[in-house]
Amino acid sequence: MRRSLVVGNWKMNGTLASSELLAKGIIAGLDSNNADIAICVPYVYLPCVSELVKGTALALGSQNIADKSTGAFTGEISATMLREFNCKYALVGHSERRTFYGDTNESVAARFSQAQQQNIIPILCVGETLEQREQNQTFEVINDQLDAVINLVGVAAFNSAVIAYEPVWAIGTGKTASDEQAQEVHYYIRQYMAAKDQVIADKIQILYGGSAKPDNAKGLFAMPDIDGGLIGGASLDAESFLKIFHSI
Ligand code: PGA
Repeated sequence: MRRSLVVGNWKMNGTLASSELLAKGIIAGLDSNNADIAICVPYVYLPCVSELVKGTALALGSQNIADKSTGAFTGEISATMLREFNCKYALVGHSERRTFYGDTNESVAARFSQAQQQNIIPILCVGETLEQREQNQTFEVINDQLDAVINLVGVAAFNSAVIAYEPVWAIGTGKTASDEQAQEVHYYIRQYMAAKDQVIADKIQILYGGSAKPDNAKGLFAMPDIDGGLIGGASLDAESFLKIFHSI
């Protein structure tokens, strides 16, 4: 049986004070749940939040990670640096990075590799745009996104990784994929991995992301190949994030 995981992606929101309050609110509402929970906070709040989550079940993650290990790369944050602040996870290839900051399948693969070199679990985000879906390119797009990583690090690297399926058309739009639409792609991803390694396919956590909310999380999480969620907007409120977590 796969363990479920719910991850909050705070994106570029909040202040130091609100981040502290939000983290504390989440920690206060944690109870023994048979699932894992994490938050990906803005880089500058990692030192503060990393102190708050110490000794709790709430794990920490970053929203991106450099594709190089060290050196003259102004503005980048390395895996070694993130490790120092107890990041267990790092998002790689979020669609906002791909769309607005030029992340390519190849640079995302390099970020995935950098994370693993410091024992940080990459959460590889994949997903199609509305236009790609309408042109029936969803599976092709996802194949390319997965293949770039597999080509660089090999399928065995997915032993310690998470995949997040995030249809771009559902992110921050309020348009959630239906339970069946999401399950169809999750199933596809698992089969794609199974063709390369059945054991990894059976155990890898595949999260759904895109306008997941307290009122639709239960249905999504009940799908056989959906192992939790990557939550943006609804993770900015402790109560709604916890409601989603407790929908597992
Ligand atoms: P959303 O974002 O829940 O606000 O749609 C999800 C994500 O981008 O990870």
